Amino acid sequence: MRNTAVLDNAVIGTYDDPLSGPGTIPIHGPAGFAGMRRAGNLAARVLDYLVPYVKPEVTTEHLHQLTYDYVKAHGAVSATIYYRGFGKSLCTSINHVVCHGIPSAKRLKDGDILNIDVTVVVDGWHGDTSRMYLVGDVPIRARRLVDVTFEAMHRGIAVAKPGNTLGDVGYAIQSFAEAQRMSVVRDFCGHGLGQVFHTAPSVVHIGKPGKGVTLQPGMFLTIEPMINLGRPDVKVLDDGWTAVTRDRSLSAQFEHSIGITETGCEIFTLSPGGFDAPPYAIG
Ligand code: MF3
Ligand code: CO
Ligand code: CO
Repeated sequence: MRNTAVLDNAVIGTYDDPLSGPGTIPIHGPAGFAGMRRAGNLAARVLDYLVPYVKPEVTTEHLHQLTYDYVKAHGAVSATIYYRGFGKSLCTSINHVVCHGIPSAKRLKDGDILNIDVTVVVDGWHGDTSRMYLVGDVPIRARRLVDVTFEAMHRGIAVAKPGNTLGDVGYAIQSFAEAQRMSVVRDFCGHGLGQVFHTAPSVVHIGKPGKGVTLQPGMFLTIEPMINLGRPDVKVLDDGWTAVTRDRSLSAQFEHSIGITETGCEIFTLSPGGFDAPPYAIG
């Protein structure tokens, strides 16, 4: 989501959260964890289902249609279709597109890297997850970006536990990505979620140890770093959605929805098929 917070993690963005009020971080109990498990699992199964369809010549509109039908058949709805007029059941962000790419008649081509980001609502709970897909033969630099982004997300998740702060999470991601001479996008961030798609806190993917909100059991949030091969700067195209790197360098992203537990965190959106990081060997 769009980052409106001050970048030292000191300020939580303001939210119009109908359930918990602006700026309040919701704390959930066992019923919330049960709801998020179901929503997260369906979102992850959508991404698993799409694996064999991501190949040269396929349109991103086709991936939207497949997802629309799959989600419907499972008695759920996509949160993005009705989100501020976005109109599609997933975001498809190719190469230098950072996030919020809109499915279209554009065809995938050999060598593309693609992020697919899906959010489903199951019995009122939101499961939000994204992964990178490799189209055909992908150059080594792009594959490295994808691998670094996957590890960056997991380094953030590894420190998402009670007593640690969001600054610790941002620091884990930023210090790793920058040591690989890559950059972390500042203009979009992770977010709280649950019965609301985007709520407090803002999860900025840079930070300083010990700064920012202290994590507590029962908080639900996404960790969804966007990492660029070049500079971190982003611009949004005239369609009002598609965010691209200003220097047109490649960008990658992975996203999980997690819940803070007594001892660490639970990942709600793990791949049931084992397709967590590409290449996704199938058949
Ligand atoms: N799923 C995205 C996120 O991680 C939000 C997409 S909103 C859309 O927060 F409208 F662009 F689809
Ligand atoms: Co998200
Ligand atoms: Co998402």
